[in-house]
Amino acid sequence: MPLQAPDTEPLVPYQLPFPKEALAEIVVPRAVPEDERIWVPQAANVHFRPLCLNRSQGYWVNLLRVRKSGVLSRHRHPLAVHGFVLKGRWHYLEHDWIAEEGGYVFEPPGETHTLVVPDDVEEMITFFQVNGVMYYVDPYGKPLGYEDVFTKIELCRKHFTAVGLGEDYVEQFIR
Ligand SMILES: [Fe+2]
Repeated sequence: MPLQAPDTEPLVPYQLPFPKEALAEIVVPRAVPEDERIWVPQAANVHFRPLCLNRSQGYWVNLLRVRKSGVLSRHRHPLAVHGFVLKGRWHYLEHDWIAEEGGYVFEPPGETHTLVVPDDVEEMITFFQVNGVMYYVDPYGKPLGYEDVFTKIELCRKHFTAVGLGEDYVEQFIR
């Protein structure tokens, strides 16, 4: 039996209900938002825009925006990260390659790095899927703090309340 129906047959949507335990999809029409309030501040010149805050599997998907000379502090990843650069350019202090607009990055478990945006870049925006935690450390690995999907949700709640979107605004991104 062919896996694909011949072109001559009309397209028929799947006729059965989805599993009742399945979570709802997330559709974000403007992933890069026009409303500045949707960018959540996380450090000087560093903001993130939540897309999927996956508390059931312990990861988050977001856009990271870093403006002129911003730095994302040194941190370790125990799990993999996937990144896709939408705008601008950045590099890690710990590597000699440069991530540029249109580029994809896989960061393996065990990476510890410091993200730097050079002076001549006004703004960078990168799509990141971050699994598990970002574990902030000093140059010799001493722990300084962490972020996980739950601290991200909490940051969003506080920020969205403060800017008038309401603390429930974050719910649409949580699965
Ligand atoms: Fe990282």
